[in-house]
Amino acid sequence: MRVLVTGGAGYIGTHTCVALLQSNHEVLVIDNLSNSSLVAIDRIKLIANRSFEFIEGDIRDHALLLKIMKKFSPEAVIHFAGLKAVGESVHHPLQYYDVNVRGSLELLKAAEDVCCNLIIFSSSATVYGVPEYLPYDEDHPTVPTNPYGQSKLIVERVLQDWIKANNRRRAVCLRYFNPVGAHISGLIGEDPKNIPNNLMPFIVQTAAGRRAQLSIFGDDYDTRDGTGERDYIHVSDLANGHLLALEKHELLNHFQIINLGTGLGTTVKELIKEFENSTKQKVKTKISKRRPGDIPKSYADTELAAKLLGFQCTKSISDMCRDAWNWQKQNLDGYST
Ligand code: NAD
Ligand code: WQD
Repeated sequence: MRVLVTGGAGYIGTHTCVALLQSNHEVLVIDNLSNSSLVAIDRIKLIANRSFEFIEGDIRDHALLLKIMKKFSPEAVIHFAGLKAVGESVHHPLQYYDVNVRGSLELLKAAEDVCCNLIIFSSSATVYGVPEYLPYDEDHPTVPTNPYGQSKLIVERVLQDWIKANNRRRAVCLRYFNPVGAHISGLIGEDPKNIPNNLMPFIVQTAAGRRAQLSIFGDDYDTRDGTGERDYIHVSDLANGHLLALEKHELLNHFQIINLGTGLGTTVKELIKEFENSTKQKVKTKISKRRPGDIPKSYADTELAAKLLGFQCTKSISDMCRDAWNWQKQNLDGYST
C-alpha cells in the first residue's frame, strides 16, 4: 500500500517505517523535525535497504499536505506526528491542542480532499487516566488527567465522527502502553532532545555517564517492591502492530480502538535490575519522592489485539534493555553523535 507517515522521523515512526518498507509498502514521510533528525531518515533507508520520499514540513500546513497527498495519493495515513510530554502539556496546553488536535484536523481535511479513507492513529494508554480496574481493557472509562491525554482523546472522538460520515472510511486508534528499546541494529532508537520524559532513556543515560544518578520516584506504592509498575513494550513489536493494523484493517470495525502492550507489569526496580543484568552496566539510583500525577500500576488487556490482529509481542524485558543500551552505546549523543 502507499502509506503517508506523519512524524516518521520520530522514535516510533522510524521503527514503523522500517517495518513498512521491509514488507514492501510504499512510504512517504512528513515531519517538521521538531523532535527528530534528518539522520534518522538515512538510517531507516540503511536498515531497510530501500529509499522513500521525505518532506520536511508541518502537519498544520494544509496547502503542503494537500500538495503531497495529491502527488502521492496515499491509501492510508499512519499519524504519529505530535507532541508527547505530559508535564510540558500542563504548562503549554494551547501548544498541545494546536499541534495534536488542529494538526490532526488539517491532516484529515487533506485526506478527505483526496479520498484517502484509512487512518491509523497513535493514541495512548494515558487516555484511561486513573485505573478503575486492571488490566485496562478498551472499554475502561477514559478520563485523561492532563492536556496531552485530552488531546489524544479529542482526536479519537473526531475520528469516530469522521468515519460515521462516510462508510468507506476506517480509523484505527492504537493505544500504546510504554514503548522502550530500539531497533536490533542499534541504528535507530529514542533520542530525547532535552531532559528525557520517560524512565528508560534516564536509565541508559545514567549508565552511559550522561547523568549522575537516576531518581526512583517513590518506593511506597502498593506494588511488589513499592515502585511504579508499567507495561513496557519493545518498539519493534509496537511497529509490527501498525503493520498488522494496516494489513488487516478490512477485518476491523470502521472505528476500532486497540491496546498495544504486553499485558505484563514491570516495576521500576525490576526494570533497573534487568537492565543491569542484561547489559552488565551499573545504574546509580536514589529513592526520591513520588512524581505528582503518577499512578501505581498500569498494564494492558491484550486480548483484543491478539484476537483482531493476531498481535503477539516477541521481545522480552531483557531484549528491551539490551537494545536500548546497544542504541545508546553506538550513539552516545543520539543522532547528533
Ligand atoms: P517523537 O517525538 O519521537 O515523534 C513524533 C514526531 O513528530 C517527531 O519526529 C516530530 O519531529 C514530529 N512532529 C511533531 N510535531 C509535528 C508537526 N507539527 N508537524 C510535523 N511533524 C511533527 O514521539 P514518539 O515517541 O515517536 O511518538 C509518536 C506518537 O506516538 C506521538 O503522537 C505520541 O503522542 C504517541 N505515543 C507515544 C508514546 C511514547 O511513550 N513514546 C506513548 C503513547 C503514544
Ligand atoms: C514509568 C515509571 C515513574 C522516570 C508516560 C506518559 C504516557 C506515555 C508513556 C505517551 C513510573 C518511574 C520515571 C524517572 C522513575 N507517553 N520513573 N524515575 O509515566 O508510565 O507514562 O510515558 O503517551 O502518556 O505519561 O512513563 O517512563 O515516565 O515512567 O522512577 O526518572 O518510572 O514514576 O512509575 P509513564 P515513565
